[in-house]
Amino acid sequence: MKLWAGRAGGDVDERLSAINNSIGFDSRMYKQDITGSIAHARMLGKQGIIPMDDAAAIVAGLKGILADIEAGTLEIDMTCEDIHTFVEATLTERIGDAGKRLHTARSRNDQVALDIRMFLADEIDRLTALAKDFVAALCEVAEKHLQTVMPGYTHLQRAQPITLAHWLMAYAQMLLRDIDRLADCKKRTLVLPLGSGALAGTTYPLDREYVAEQLGFAGISLNSLDGVSDRDFAAELLADLSIMMMHLSRFSEEICLWCSWEFRFVTLSDSFSTGSSIMPQKKNPDITELVRGKTGRVYGDLMALLTVMKALPLAYNKDMQEDKEALFDAIDTADLSLSVLAPMLRTAVFHPEAMKQAAAAGFINATDCADYMVRKGVPFRDAYGVVGRLVKYCIDRGTTLEALPLAEYRQFSLVFDEDVYEAIDLLTCVGQRNIPGGPAPEAVKQTIDATRERLE
Ligand code: ARG
Repeated sequence: MKLWAGRAGGDVDERLSAINNSIGFDSRMYKQDITGSIAHARMLGKQGIIPMDDAAAIVAGLKGILADIEAGTLEIDMTCEDIHTFVEATLTERIGDAGKRLHTARSRNDQVALDIRMFLADEIDRLTALAKDFVAALCEVAEKHLQTVMPGYTHLQRAQPITLAHWLMAYAQMLLRDIDRLADCKKRTLVLPLGSGALAGTTYPLDREYVAEQLGFAGISLNSLDGVSDRDFAAELLADLSIMMMHLSRFSEEICLWCSWEFRFVTLSDSFSTGSSIMPQKKNPDITELVRGKTGRVYGDLMALLTVMKALPLAYNKDMQEDKEALFDAIDTADLSLSVLAPMLRTAVFHPEAMKQAAAAGFINATDCADYMVRKGVPFRDAYGVVGRLVKYCIDRGTTLEALPLAEYRQFSLVFDEDVYEAIDLLTCVGQRNIPGGPAPEAVKQTIDATRERLE
């Protein structure tokens, strides 16, 4: 059955159906479609646009359809054109003529715009909860590693001492911004397009505010052409998810590196790693590689929608049916990525010893060593020169500033004493970077507390 068997006969070639039908993917919005229709029917009844009895029958019928789909006793007919067609046809089949009144003062153009907005608002809530859980996992692991010193890098070269907790909380900040962006996107998503009709509104005395209220929308669209053709909120969500995936991908890249024998900073749990079919020694970080790879997919989804929308004349065009697969793919990918990274992180074993060794071998405390000499009265430029020679001496002998015996220190300068080891201790160096936002354990603890507060 075609909803549009009017001027066009509705008796179509199967190849038309193959390109035209969207039920293969838009059936995912059955709940939003039905809930939106219930609100519309109630409003039609309240406004006297259709008889109250019919409105009541429609509402009851739609509730029955929703319950039966969820119970698995009503199967969605995948030969229908789209989910809107299926719901309306099933309703009429079940309640008779009253069902034919549901589509009064509505077009599928404003109906589908409503359905996507409702669907995305629900998905934003779900993704936000997942993102929050990942941030919680970052905080949990960070709390255990406030004192775990590791090298911080610039240019991927060992630069200055930080802690694992500090590194983890950097990603927590990125995810907090992602969560903010999702909340902001939701505001523009919850604008009711229903009442825009096909493009030019309707002659019926609709109460659009009443529909908005029932569906938890914050407001109504103020131009019917824009109402049916606006997909900004969808592009925005894809952009927000792209940025979030960029963060997850950067995190993943570092974990991939850290799993290598060159780093050995972390060992992933066996239940979150894979092996090789030929190399028995292999344990691979497939999860983080895939998250890194899937990020490209989400960027592609964003580009797909922007390109579909580019140069579309007002108002609705069938091109816009192409929005859903990109959206669903990006949502599923973000969902999967967040869902797997959180438990992977919680079960990973980090190696403080390896991190400390990397930190020590990087001479990242050389500045602190020079500062020690300054405190003993040596001018900084002289101290800088001495420590430069000391570092070269250590490199030539394959040792570190921490391991060098005091007697050898004193060959370079007599200001060196036993207390030099305390001064260049990496934890001391980190501890002195105790400003808000810094890597000192106290400062990071404050960041963890502030982050947890933001999650609430
Ligand atoms: N399946 C369509 C979509 O996803 C519904 C709107 C159809 N409107 C129309 N005028 N054919 O966009």
